[in-house]
Amino acid sequence: MTKMIHSTLRLLLTGILLGATIALPAQKIKKADYQAAVDKAYEKYKRLQEGKNADYIKELATVDPDIYGIAIVTTDGKVYTAGDLDSRVSIQSIPKLFTMAKVIEEQGPRAVFDKIGVDATGMRFNSIIAIEMNQGKEINPLVNPGAIAATSMISGLDSVAKWKNILETHNDFAGTELKVNHPVYVSEANDNLRNQAIAHLLKAYNRMYFDPVEATDLYTKQCALNANAKELAVMAATLANGGKNPVTGKTVVSPRTTTFTLSVMSTAGLYDDSGQWLFAVGLPAKSGVGGGILAVCPGKFGVAVISPPLNEAGNSVKAQKAIYDIVRDLDVHPYRIDPK
Ligand code: DON
Repeated sequence: MTKMIHSTLRLLLTGILLGATIALPAQKIKKADYQAAVDKAYEKYKRLQEGKNADYIKELATVDPDIYGIAIVTTDGKVYTAGDLDSRVSIQSIPKLFTMAKVIEEQGPRAVFDKIGVDATGMRFNSIIAIEMNQGKEINPLVNPGAIAATSMISGLDSVAKWKNILETHNDFAGTELKVNHPVYVSEANDNLRNQAIAHLLKAYNRMYFDPVEATDLYTKQCALNANAKELAVMAATLANGGKNPVTGKTVVSPRTTTFTLSVMSTAGLYDDSGQWLFAVGLPAKSGVGGGILAVCPGKFGVAVISPPLNEAGNSVKAQKAIYDIVRDLDVHPYRIDPK
């Protein structure tokens, strides 16, 4: 199938292929470098008018498209921000990451590998064809089918216990109490036939591990969790720090779980644009149709940007550009190697 090249990433790629300036090697990133990178990316894109809020979940179309906040949290707990840190948006697909991490923590990587599958589908995040083509196998925990399956696997005897587990996991990653955005939850829950269909199709293939209606409801509620850029950056920094929250000091998941989580992020974090993202930026990342993207620089920092207007693949336009610039300015593309 011919894959559409989406404008935002195409632009990034053109910059790279034309030999865009790469900063000099920075062995140790200084405080001033972090703040300068964040400020520069904020200023450069704050007036950019590209992309469009998601509207297939009606409430998302009403979110202020000018919300634009950036945060970096380092693995030693330092915070660097620019723009809007007060506004929270529903983080949509980003919780897929932390629920998957919790399932890996509870049941081991083999369970996710065998019962969900970790190959990227290469198709849209809510593709039903992707399920059909593999008869419920290889559905990936970072797109809707695999995420609903992962939600169905999270430990807890009933829906209430499972939700408690999901919420506590997210709170531990964020180091704060996250709240559900009720208008967004209700808006999606009332109009959720496609995800319900996905869950039932998985059940038909014996790849759903809890009641499909309840699993979809839990999944929808986690998508409606609200966060600002700083809270998302702390969540990313916890992964960058091997599963230990650098702000609270709490170990949320093991380093081993973190390793597998980052691997899946690398191949599927930006849906069907993941290959282009990895090519351009190199860091594992996860986006959501609420407009958030977080990325993880292992051992160094987590970065997150919120800006609701999306490109055709469903990824925030400004967030992609801002993170690309920050990674370039801090010179942390993991595959940039100085030959000996
Ligand atoms: O299920 C949905 O369609 C939304 N709650 C989340 C979608 C999203 O952010 C893109 N996903 N992978």
